[in-house]
Amino acid sequence: MKNRTAITLFGGSGDLTYRKLLPAMYNLHVLGKLEDNFEIIGLGRRDYTTEDYIAIARNWMKEYSRKQYADETFNEFAKRITYFKIDISNVDEYARLQDFYTSKEISDHVYYYAVAPELFLTITEGLRKYCSQNKAKIIIEKPFGADLDDATKLNSKLEEFFGHDEIYHIDHYLGKEMIQNILSVRFNNAIFKGIWNKDFIESVQITVAEAVGVGTRAGYYDKSGATKDMVQNHLLQVLSIVAMEEPKDSSMDREQLELLKALKPVNKVEDILVMGQYDGYLQENNISENSKTETYVALKVEIENERWQGVPFFIRTGKKMATRESQVIVKFKAENSAPQNMLIIKVQPSEGIYLKFNAKKPGTDKELQEVSMDFCQSCILENRINTPEAYERLLDACFKGDRLLFSKWDQIVVSWNYINNILAKHKAIGSPIYTYEQNTMGPKEADKLTDWILDLE
Ligand SMILES: NC(=O)c1ccc[n+]([C@@H]2O[C@H](COP(=O)([O-])OP(=O)(O)OC[C@H]3O[C@@H](n4cnc5c(N)ncnc54)[C@H](OP(=O)(O)O)[C@@H]3O)[C@@H](O)[C@H]2O)c1
Repeated sequence: MKNRTAITLFGGSGDLTYRKLLPAMYNLHVLGKLEDNFEIIGLGRRDYTTEDYIAIARNWMKEYSRKQYADETFNEFAKRITYFKIDISNVDEYARLQDFYTSKEISDHVYYYAVAPELFLTITEGLRKYCSQNKAKIIIEKPFGADLDDATKLNSKLEEFFGHDEIYHIDHYLGKEMIQNILSVRFNNAIFKGIWNKDFIESVQITVAEAVGVGTRAGYYDKSGATKDMVQNHLLQVLSIVAMEEPKDSSMDREQLELLKALKPVNKVEDILVMGQYDGYLQENNISENSKTETYVALKVEIENERWQGVPFFIRTGKKMATRESQVIVKFKAENSAPQNMLIIKVQPSEGIYLKFNAKKPGTDKELQEVSMDFCQSCILENRINTPEAYERLLDACFKGDRLLFSKWDQIVVSWNYINNILAKHKAIGSPIYTYEQNTMGPKEADKLTDWILDLE
């Protein structure tokens, strides 16, 4: 056997594969980061030949790859790709898949679960039954399970079959350039390191606003909602990076976990949570009649530890909002009743750091004016070209066996516990889901939590 390596994309004909995974691998190919004999196998039910599949992929690459598309380079890249038609919900179909692997002499595998979470267990069963001789790593997409029970069941099956260290829970927010930059900014600057605590910080806001609606994800989304789809994973992961203690070594697992464990359990959910649904959601395809699924959530999170006692963290996310913007805003306490300093970390689409502070107005004795320093990272063409996309960075890390930027099972458990408790309380007291207009920043009821800020430019 030639000991070939392959990535198998369950969901190879899906949105994530076309827009993110194949472009990420194209970039890795261009950079020479894929082994010579590395293969890409796209799985789906659609009746494609490999040629059809490559033709579709070519168009997506032109649109989505970071590295400039070139026919010759793509043709070389395309030699790695095979499309394999299969119904992955049928466990016995995996016998055919294993025959295919054997015919290609592939022994080292990365299985990427880029499908709806309902299929995760079946895939695991199919691989266990027919493909157990293979050496394998698993990359698994969010949401990891529909709730904690579901996630636990899934995790024990995955660990039993693949082993704890071979499971890579992907949270692409952890691969984003500016999320990583939070670590550099926090821990390598005396001006921030010393004041990153309750004595100087009044509050923190984390916003992930999406301008799009549910689109083609309606079937899944309607069962999930914004809290499980975004808060349980992305927003709590970002929050943990903003608030954790300084990691003692190159791993930040322990510090993130400790922070998540310190989230204050919620008592009166009506005081800290506002949910909304955009006007027109019920008319979208594949949404159940009278759906009560939230497409917007705003939440006040408190942290019970010495660093953050009494400092609220406000997080919000929603669809069909007025803008597509992800930002972390740190609001400092006022000095001498002057306007508050603010640090804004812009995560996407623009990337950068913006600091607002006070200075003397020229020509006056003491009058203050608010001034700013704006480091726009993504305004520099070279930065844009040289910055890997989140999926590119994470796939590369997984191929190298580097688990640093993947979320960990113990963190997922703590996050699910926190979110389950909130959702159960919200349901128990029959809290409302407020309708909000499209192209706004969500229901006005969320203003009772805080004065939300976005983009001070
Ligand atoms: N899209 C994103 O930007 C994004 C971002 C973050 C996370 N995710 C996560 O990634 C996963 C996939 O999302 P997506 O947006 O790519 O979904 P999608 O566009 O709906 O694609 C679903 C994929 O699953 C395949 N599939 C479904 N049932 C199958 C079956 N029985 N047998 C074989 N293939 C089957 C479909 O193949 P056929 O169509 O050929 O049947 C298709 O390739 C989800 O867990 C989602 O939460 C997506």
